[in-house]
Amino acid sequence: MFTAKTIVELKSRLSELDSMSCVCLVPTMGALHQGHMSLVKRAVEENAVTVVSIFVNPTQFDNLWDLDKYPRTLEADVALLEKISKDIIVFVPSAEEVYPEGQNSESYDFQGLEEAMEGAFRKGHFDGVGTVVEKLLHIVKPDRAYFGEKDFQQLQIIRKMVELKKIPVEIIGCPIVREENGLAWSSRNERLSKAMRKEASFIFKTLKTVKKKFGTKSVKSVLDWAKKQFEERPDLDLEYIVIAESETLRSLEEKRPNTKYRAFIAVFADSVRLIDNIALN
Ligand code: PAF
Repeated sequence: MFTAKTIVELKSRLSELDSMSCVCLVPTMGALHQGHMSLVKRAVEENAVTVVSIFVNPTQFDNLWDLDKYPRTLEADVALLEKISKDIIVFVPSAEEVYPEGQNSESYDFQGLEEAMEGAFRKGHFDGVGTVVEKLLHIVKPDRAYFGEKDFQQLQIIRKMVELKKIPVEIIGCPIVREENGLAWSSRNERLSKAMRKEASFIFKTLKTVKKKFGTKSVKSVLDWAKKQFEERPDLDLEYIVIAESETLRSLEEKRPNTKYRAFIAVFADSVRLIDNIALN
């Protein structure tokens, strides 16, 4: 397994490869779990060269405490990647390498995609994500890049950024991977107590019922029902539940034909913030 710590090391390794090979990038912040593994497996299957970046990006955290608490498990991450393929190139840059001019985000206009949900509750978050992903795409110059649908708003924003900046890369969204009890895999799950991890399975259970009700009930009554479920669960603190168009992420007022919708949710389980979403039609 080749690990590059600097851009120079990475570029020199990539330059040794056949220039016709299809190169892909799986950007991560490490603490790899089954969700990441599914992205990496698919990337390895579909491309000749897979670069996995592991970089805890400081500019996308609106909260220093959260940045500090973010798990850093490089050795275990590399061991997991090695199980998939020894040919993966791991890029583990330092903050100085990625941000030589200081840790600042670019200011993007994602044409409204950034306004609701995560963008509303985590100020500056998507500018940080856009900045680091744009930098990584410029460094690696992949033909394809893989992102999970758990962060569906992030996925749509990256698609928009690539379109606006005319970056020649195909963005591939991959389905959410869940623990046995339905909880979406996230690096944050490790911070939950055993009891809370079980309790948090209620998030997906609720989303599945929202999907069922969405077929026959009004949006308002579905959302009111879901909010009430959380009022009865004092251990789970609902931050938002939103039904929005999948494409524009505009909050839904009236159902329209030929339009795809999703329900999005953010919940605090103790101090751990969990997000999830589900396709409704
Ligand atoms: O989804 C993540 O882990 C991060 O937001 C990403 C895309 C790696 C950028 O830091």
